[in-house]
This record gives sequence, C-alpha cells and structure tokens, in this order.
Amino acid sequence: MFKVLSSQMIVPNLHQITLEAPAVAKEMRPGQFVILRADEDGERTPLSVCDWDAELGSITIIFLNIGSTTNRLSELRDGMYIPTVVGPLGNATDIENYGTVLLVGGCYGIGSLFPIARALKEKGNRIIMVMEARSSYLLYWVERYKQISDEVVFITRDGTLGLRGHVTCLDDYIKNQETPIDMAIINGCTFLMKTGSDTTKPFDIKTIVSLNPIMIDGTGMCGVCRVRIGGETKFACVDGPDFDGHQVDWEELLQRRKTYMREEVVPFRTSGCQGHSCKSQG
Ligand code: FES
Repeated sequence: MFKVLSSQMIVPNLHQITLEAPAVAKEMRPGQFVILRADEDGERTPLSVCDWDAELGSITIIFLNIGSTTNRLSELRDGMYIPTVVGPLGNATDIENYGTVLLVGGCYGIGSLFPIARALKEKGNRIIMVMEARSSYLLYWVERYKQISDEVVFITRDGTLGLRGHVTCLDDYIKNQETPIDMAIINGCTFLMKTGSDTTKPFDIKTIVSLNPIMIDGTGMCGVCRVRIGGETKFACVDGPDFDGHQVDWEELLQRRKTYMREEVVPFRTSGCQGHSCKSQG
C-alpha cells in the first residue's frame, strides 16, 4: 500500500498529490510516468510525475478531475493509502544541450514539464517557459518556474494575464525572437499538443510531445495505447511517451481517446461535480 503524504486542489479542478513510493522515486527520470489505482476496484490510470524526492521516497502528481477515476483520486486525503503505484514507466525525455528550448504547458502539463525544464536548465539550455490556461486563476507553480527559466510567458484565453488567446499566439512570439528557438517541448491535453505542434511546424522547430492515450498495463502488452507516428504504429507506453509532434496522427489519437468518454464523464457529471479547468483532457 502507498501512503498519501499530501493532497490538495491547487487551482479549480486540478489536484496535486504526493505519495510515498520510495522504489519509484529512486529510479524516476524527467518525462516518465506512473500508473495508479485509487482503490482495489479502481481502473489503472497513467499520470505524469511532476516532481520527486529520492531521499524522502516521494513522488508528486498533478491531475485534472475530469472523470469518475480522477474524481476518486481527488477524494484522497493525507494519511490515506492507495493499492497501486507502478513505475517509473516509459522512456525518459532526452536531456541535451540544445540551445534555446521553448516549453509549452497547459493544465496538468504545467506540472509535468517541471522536471524536464529543470534538467534542461542544468544542462545549460536557455529556457522559455510558456504557461497556458483559460484564465490567470488556473495557473500554478509560477514562482517555481521563474526560478529555473530565463523567461516565462503567459497565455490566457480571456486575456487576464500575458498574451490573449490560445497557443497559436506563439506564432507572432516566435517570429519576433532575436535568438532562434532550437527545440519545443509541449505537455498537456491532446488539443494543446496538436495545436502547439501545428504552430511550430512552419518554423521547422523540432517539437516533442508527451502523448497521453488510454493505457492498461503500461508495459507494452495490451496494445491499447497504440498511436500512429509517421505512418508507423507505436505503443506510447514503451516507445514513448515522447514523440515528434509533427509526425503524430492527431485525428486518430483524438478519436481513440474518446472511446470511454461516455463511461467516464457521464457518471461524473451526474454525480454533481462540474469541471472548471479544461474540457479536452480525458
Ligand atoms: Fe498496454 Fe501500452 S498500455 S501496450
């Protein structure tokens, strides 16, 4: 059993949980994920790890409360236990000295980019962190990012902070950069990663996304997480989760992610809970 060390809602509908999982924390690398179950009857849920402490033996996860399973996770309180934490899973993000790296995070992706940004900074990269949300009150970890970034850019759809609009605003931002951007890394909902990849493509900026298809085992056995990359079938859990955003078959991924939307979201909505943050994460 794995103890919940802390659990809190950090902005409306986004929850941060720290779990005691020493074996996982010891091996964790930036970009990897874990699979959790909230209880013995719960389904297996893949979630990116946003931070960890190998000495304390803890890992931290941020997730959007969007369906029945994430709602159960959101009800966990300090001192409670969950039966399953499997990981680290997936390949770590390649951390090299690329030059200038544009990191784009929205929703839970703001958190999951943090260990990647920190590792890239330690490698000597210039870090531009772009935080995207519907409104400024949905942003979090801003001070943390200011400490490790050369520049922090905000995009809010209602214009309450930074650029007004969606990630497509980056089009003008990239055009106006004096120093070329050598790489982009985008984490968040499928729609954000698709739109962000579409935005960087005309500039020929290598763009890495962390794909989030439905998963079961997370070890390459069930085939549920299959995605099409450059015309080839890959398993996101063992071949990814990082892939070239310009090679992803986004339409297929968006369709496959809707497979259990009804089963997940209908019981959640009828339970009286209303989402505030992002409607496109499953
Ligand atoms: Fe089963 Fe990837 S989750 S093969």
